[in-house]
Amino acid sequence: MGTQQHSEHTDPTQGYTVAAVCRLLARAAVAAVHAPSVLNTQPWRWRIEHDTALLFADRDRALPTIDPDGRLLTLSCGAALHHACVALAAEGADFTVESLPSGHGPDVMAVVHYDGPAPPSPVAVPLADAIMKRRSDRRSFADRPVPDELLDPLRSAAERCGAHLQVTWSRDLADIAAATAQAADAEFTDPAYRAELAAWIRRPGEARDGVPTDTLSDAGPRKIPLRDFRAIGYPSGLHSTADLEDQHARYGIVVTDGDGPRDWLTGGVALSAVLLTATVEHLATSTMSDLVEHETARRTVHRMLGGVGYPAIGVRIGIPADSTEPAEAPRRPARDIVEVLADPLCEEAVLTPPPAFH
Ligand SMILES: Cc1cc2nc3c(=O)[nH]c(=O)nc-3n(C[C@H](O)[C@H](O)[C@H](O)COP(=O)(O)O)c2cc1C
Repeated sequence: MGTQQHSEHTDPTQGYTVAAVCRLLARAAVAAVHAPSVLNTQPWRWRIEHDTALLFADRDRALPTIDPDGRLLTLSCGAALHHACVALAAEGADFTVESLPSGHGPDVMAVVHYDGPAPPSPVAVPLADAIMKRRSDRRSFADRPVPDELLDPLRSAAERCGAHLQVTWSRDLADIAAATAQAADAEFTDPAYRAELAAWIRRPGEARDGVPTDTLSDAGPRKIPLRDFRAIGYPSGLHSTADLEDQHARYGIVVTDGDGPRDWLTGGVALSAVLLTATVEHLATSTMSDLVEHETARRTVHRMLGGVGYPAIGVRIGIPADSTEPAEAPRRPARDIVEVLADPLCEEAVLTPPPAFH
């Protein structure tokens, strides 16, 4: 952690103390710890330098077999970036974001520059509240359709971030089912894939990253099975439609206009916006990257979308079956992720975990 000189001087043009800005940015980076990430790898780091926050990809946490080109890692960084921006905007900050800035090296995903105080954004405040409430919910959803009007804010949230959310109709379910099956066939017959997945599955309470088994679902048969994290096999046999669970889940695809690292980052920003907006709307969600991980599956989804845009990731959306919260996937300590240069006191003030985590 940085131990350079502590600066408490006031910027004469802006009227704020450098330390206060440093802490504001550090708080945003701490909020971003709660962003979703592929297999809960949390593959990012932050460095706060005075009035700038740099977001780095942490490639030590990459998944070389599941995600060889770093698409899901970049999407995860995009989700962390969006969480931080929501926290800043809700606290009352004006800021600019430079994505994948040139001259910083390949690991700098974004630079967030504080531009001065602003009124708390009315759009960001409820999203910031949703950060601590949102969790992946892989359990079967309620036996009630999602009202279409609740999906519009999700679509708008993705558009505001420069991406799109295509929510599928029942006629698309065959394609979604085909893509899921293609991904499962390709991936589960690959021992390297199975080993990498197993390395990130955790017993509850075992670690501060990875996917704890109590966050997985033991649901019965579904038309669209979720990723088989534990390789226990999908419920087998023929099932009548009446026996199927999760019948009212809707599937959204976050679609980007291009298919390079900048688009993946945008896709992650949009994913976070969709998930937090859904939480505000009291909808439950879980993310599905198996739909787009394997080339064949991704092509199926691409065709389903009429060949327009690039499918970045899938989101399962529904009404929660009951009011109990899904189990929580723990996060790494903020101190391991956020480095604050020039303000050691900030480390004490912002990065020290609340007593429950001691
Ligand atoms: C890029 C990305 C890919 C993901 N892929 C899947 C997936 O295929 N299946 C799944 O159940 N969850 C998936 N997730 C959700 C993560 O497993 C989840 O965010 C993480 O375990 C933390 O849990 P939380 O969402 O409850 O905070 C993905 C998340 C991201 C950001």
